Amino acid sequence: MKIIGVTQARIGSSRLPRKVLLTINDKTLLEYHLERAMQSKLVNKWIVATTDEPESDLICEIANKLQISSYKGSLNDVLDRFYQSVKKEKPDYVVRVTSDCPLLDATLVDEVVKFCIDNKLDYYSNVFQEVYPDGLDVEVFSFKALEEAWNNATNAVDREHVTPYIRRNSEVIIPKSNIDKKYSELRITVDEISDFEVIQHLIQQLGANQPWKIYADYLLQNKEIQNINHSILRNEGYMKSKFNEIELRNITNFKASDEYRSKIHDLIPGGAHTYSKGDDQFPILSPAAIVRGKGAYVWDVDGNHYLDCSMGLTSVSLGHAYEPVLKAVREELENGVNFQRPAALEKEMAETFLALVPDHDMIKFSKNGSIVTTAAVKLARAKTGRKLVAFPGDHPFYSYDDWFIGSTPCNKGIPEEISNLSVTFKGCDLGSLRALFQKYPDQIACVITEPEKNSCGNGCSCALNVGDFLKQAIELCHENGALFIADEMVSGFKTEFPGTITKYGIQPDMATWGKGIANGFSFCALTGTKEVMELGGINREGEEKVFLISTTHGGETHGLAAAIATIKEYKEKNVIAHNHHIGKKLIELCQQLVNENNLAEYINVIPSEWMPVFVFKDQSKVACQGFRTLFLQEMIKRGVLFQGVFVPCFSHTEDDVYYFAKAFSESLQVYKKALEDGYSNYLVGSPAKAVFRKIL
Ligand SMILES: Cc1ncc(COP(=O)(O)O)c(C=O)c1O
Repeated sequence: MKIIGVTQARIGSSRLPRKVLLTINDKTLLEYHLERAMQSKLVNKWIVATTDEPESDLICEIANKLQISSYKGSLNDVLDRFYQSVKKEKPDYVVRVTSDCPLLDATLVDEVVKFCIDNKLDYYSNVFQEVYPDGLDVEVFSFKALEEAWNNATNAVDREHVTPYIRRNSEVIIPKSNIDKKYSELRITVDEISDFEVIQHLIQQLGANQPWKIYADYLLQNKEIQNINHSILRNEGYMKSKFNEIELRNITNFKASDEYRSKIHDLIPGGAHTYSKGDDQFPILSPAAIVRGKGAYVWDVDGNHYLDCSMGLTSVSLGHAYEPVLKAVREELENGVNFQRPAALEKEMAETFLALVPDHDMIKFSKNGSIVTTAAVKLARAKTGRKLVAFPGDHPFYSYDDWFIGSTPCNKGIPEEISNLSVTFKGCDLGSLRALFQKYPDQIACVITEPEKNSCGNGCSCALNVGDFLKQAIELCHENGALFIADEMVSGFKTEFPGTITKYGIQPDMATWGKGIANGFSFCALTGTKEVMELGGINREGEEKVFLISTTHGGETHGLAAAIATIKEYKEKNVIAHNHHIGKKLIELCQQLVNENNLAEYINVIPSEWMPVFVFKDQSKVACQGFRTLFLQEMIKRGVLFQGVFVPCFSHTEDDVYYFAKAFSESLQVYKKALEDGYSNYLVGSPAKAVFRKIL
């Protein structure tokens, strides 16, 4: 098999001109790179593909010295440069590396080549795994795929960056990696002078012949060296050329939305069926209602088109009107949706879902999350004979039922006797939970908590990591005779598949599921151990009956079909990896833009890959609804329906992330002006209000 490695090298580089000619111990970076590349056992031949500028002769001379061929070609059409450099030889596979990576690792080159060949792929890269430091990227593609890209790719980004067209048109397989993700934060590439300092230090301390992990571990152990180049963005050049290509929408017409807003509150109290969808949650320059959605996009009543970020309050995990789910739903609709006796599909649904949660034996379905969280609370009270229910007072929402809403400022209509049965502790704080058990001995029936928040581990004040907190909280509950309920409504199908409880191998007595599990269709579930769940059954003859969940629509067949089809997609495609990749990319780009604009003290990007969230602050660096609403207004104007959170779904693409980032970048410019002049000079209408407020 013929495998040719091509490394691209040029003299001019906007951030660090002549970088590959910089020397360490009298040897150029290019020589280090080529000498390490040549250790590959699978690549038969290496070629240096440089530009047709006169100065590039210096690069050819270095290649020549090491007896490596070189090719001079187009400066900007790098795809053409690659193609022309290997065209005559028609190899089976081409390996692409870049010469600004002096510590490239030939073992990794061989691993990537082998994986691509063994799996008969047209394209594969170790970048997919997102575990390696920047500076070890290896891409392998068939000559056929290169030729096809060369023939068909037309846009500037595809021509300049060689592989985007191939990536878009190839099957992607992402193998599980046992390499720690902590390495992915590191940079052992050279884009700026600070990168060069790091490489210089590494080569002087460790020599130039070590495996990549030795360098990476050294950086992890020597933070002062790691920090020299820590804040530089991976592939900044690519971001800039994507931005040049993207034309942002300019949305100014909300006529139909204004009409809708003017009538809806006379018809529907709150004007919506979730308070967080309400008019008081958005700037006035925003869509009042959505007509349709497809994939990652939605269209409003004025026909305006948006990139969607909240994806149906996190429920649409695959994409709007996602065809494989729609197909299953359509087929099921033909069979009727509701019958006098259970639908036979209920058994398949129960078996399918329980197979995902090995520690739980039984399941109950419902149409809404609040129904299952309330059912879990009821079972806990029935099981323990106790009245109190405990949950973190700093978490936003568990149910619209009295046991939860009674604890918020909007407690009108809820008798105090009921509100008093709910007690709160500080989320993820074991000491606070322990104090609660001490305050109410033998009175707490259960603790219900989201198992993981997007702030967990991302600058929060938790003393324990998520898994340890959950394990110890469960132990504490059991020692005190209470049950533990993990509410996976938001975290389920997002942090992991199926959720945080399996990610950390924890065994709550019950778990509640909803939102993303049926791609936006109404299907929620309560799972639990037999010991607890069977209290809601009818087989315990002679014992008292617990009226658990009984709803006319709980077993509606198309909701079940949607859930089964969604689970199938999650199993067959690596949905979690895709969604986390999208989240990670978005965080990376936005953080870079915030840094570049010197706004790090005013805008926090919470780096939670499964659901990035943003905090907007005022001049005194305090979170501020006015500034937040202004930012939503600016993003919406540019065609991004944004409410401060980005919920990655399977239909979001990298192009969507770049679109978001460009809108983000432009919105930052308005933000900067508002920091000087006050947000009210730029925000049309009033700031959004808190959902849970006493007075309207
Ligand atoms: C953590 C959590 N639990 C429960 C619920 C209630 O779900 P539903 O709106 O489907 O009733 C929500 C809704 O936002 C939630 O975020």
